[in-house]
Amino acid sequence: MHAAIAAFAEEVSREAGKILLRGFRSDRTVVSYKSRTDIVTDCDKASEAFLVDAIAKRFPDHTIIAEEGSRRDAAGDYVWYVDPLDGTNNFAHGLPFFCVSIGVFSVRLEQIIAGVVYNPILEETFTAVRGGGAFCNKKPIRVSSIKDIGISLIATGFPYDKDISVNNNLKEFNRIILRIQGIRRMGSAAIDLSYVASGRLDGYWEGKLNPWDMAAGSLIVEEAGGMVTRYNGGPFHPEYPEIAASNGLIHAQLIQLLS
Ligand code: IPD
Ligand code: CA
Ligand code: CA
Repeated sequence: MHAAIAAFAEEVSREAGKILLRGFRSDRTVVSYKSRTDIVTDCDKASEAFLVDAIAKRFPDHTIIAEEGSRRDAAGDYVWYVDPLDGTNNFAHGLPFFCVSIGVFSVRLEQIIAGVVYNPILEETFTAVRGGGAFCNKKPIRVSSIKDIGISLIATGFPYDKDISVNNNLKEFNRIILRIQGIRRMGSAAIDLSYVASGRLDGYWEGKLNPWDMAAGSLIVEEAGGMVTRYNGGPFHPEYPEIAASNGLIHAQLIQLLS
């Protein structure tokens, strides 16, 4: 069942990726503002409409929660967390760094059981089914082997309300940047996590995220041999808005800097 869910998530994420590519760097793409700093485009909405419709048709007894407001509650065991476009700011600025992210949670097992992150620009599909390993374009991936956080490359992100909230990641950022080799702010939580999983990054942390940002990527990191927790090292949960992810080997050092 979990493999069938993952296969379908992969299939529809590719179709959604085509919708995004049609709108990328196009004069016809319409940008609107959810708040002064939080934007949405008509492509986010078109991708979401396609995904929610397709998933609901194929799995009518599954719940679907998607970023731009679509919500279908159903009695079945599974919850689909759908980010129809992760990296909207990049997309709207013509920066080629965004993806479709779909994570599926089992209420009974209380964990994510399948995840897909599809980057249509690089045509990279990161996938995982719980217990089955993690893959990029069907090839197994593995986290990095760096043991010393001092030589690690780590990504993070900042919340949209950074100007009005003290909980804006600047304290953590200022502390961590001095203790590592380098930092990246790439603008897509789901790709950041996929890059930890594939060893391109050694770690990633961010607060104030939503389940659709983290669900897929968190499983992909775990299945690639990495570790995913809260800032205090406690168990990760997609509905708890905070994530610290790493190759596992530098995890204790990252947690120490975060808490
Ligand atoms: C955002 C991206 C970004 C992260 C933000 C997210 P969106 O998602 O993942 O990297 O820093 O916190 O909200 O709005 O592009 O789907
Ligand atoms: Ca997102
Ligand atoms: Ca989004």
